[in-house]
Amino acid sequence: MATDFTEETAADAVIESFGPDTDPRLREILSSLVRHLHAFAREVELTIPEWEYAIQFLTRVGQRCDDERQEFILLSDVLGMSMLTETISNRKFGVATESTVLGPFHVVESPVRSLGDNIDLVGTGTPCVITGRVVSVDGSRIPGATIDVWQANDQGFYDVQQPDVQPRANGRGLFTADANGEFWFRTVVPSYYPIPTDGPVGELLIATGRHAFRPAHIHFIVNAPGHRPLTTHMFVAGSKYIESDTVFAVKKSLVADFEEVTDPALAEEWKVGKVPFSHADFEIIMQPEGHGQ
Ligand code: BEZ
Ligand code: FE
Repeated sequence: MATDFTEETAADAVIESFGPDTDPRLREILSSLVRHLHAFAREVELTIPEWEYAIQFLTRVGQRCDDERQEFILLSDVLGMSMLTETISNRKFGVATESTVLGPFHVVESPVRSLGDNIDLVGTGTPCVITGRVVSVDGSRIPGATIDVWQANDQGFYDVQQPDVQPRANGRGLFTADANGEFWFRTVVPSYYPIPTDGPVGELLIATGRHAFRPAHIHFIVNAPGHRPLTTHMFVAGSKYIESDTVFAVKKSLVADFEEVTDPALAEEWKVGKVPFSHADFEIIMQPEGHGQ
């Protein structure tokens, strides 16, 4: 017997239409999605013009996607969905370093570099030395961990955004920690920057009175034998927008002091060439495989 469609029974009708062979996880996800979507439409009393606008908006989001641009991920980012999913998937485990979003600019393979190399190939901006060590949750050093870093320059642009201005792989490097798990490299202090706003996500930010900026940060992907891979950032303490990252990716534990160094002996030791320069230290604590999941 056909059921009469009502606001109250609509969600059940959709869920009951799923066949018996539906994958159990797909059933769980779709059932919950349908229930929440229907509840949302009822709660806001969604109108037909609003529904049409949403369809058009999502269509335009799709139309802005190509091999280099992923407007759907950007939408997920500004709605806090990327960070929520990231945080659920990588719940904080004891003292382990927290993760944060990958972002869209890890688009090229980082060049292999030696410890101490300078990833700034341009020479403008405030010189900066990053030192750090990769350890396990018990404090033991992890030799041979790989540290993939990428960052915007002092003007707030990634190399891939300025192919005619910045050399290829500017601000990028793949380092291997030494036998003590230690690493260091030279760079410039990155700037805060706006996410791309020339698409529908930019419209959404304007319509909701939001700015488009991310606070200054350096991206890290760390891989260490026997440990869970870690995708994270090091945020520059005091950066503009540190309290209002438009993609909600700041975790307090990831904010690092970039201290001004005026000691010429350190400039010599770290091959910086001049004072003052900036120095920040990052201890990366990796979670052993299979722990805390
Ligand atoms: C980034 O940090 O590279 C980024 C993350 C999310 C959206 C846009 C940019
Ligand atoms: Fe970034």
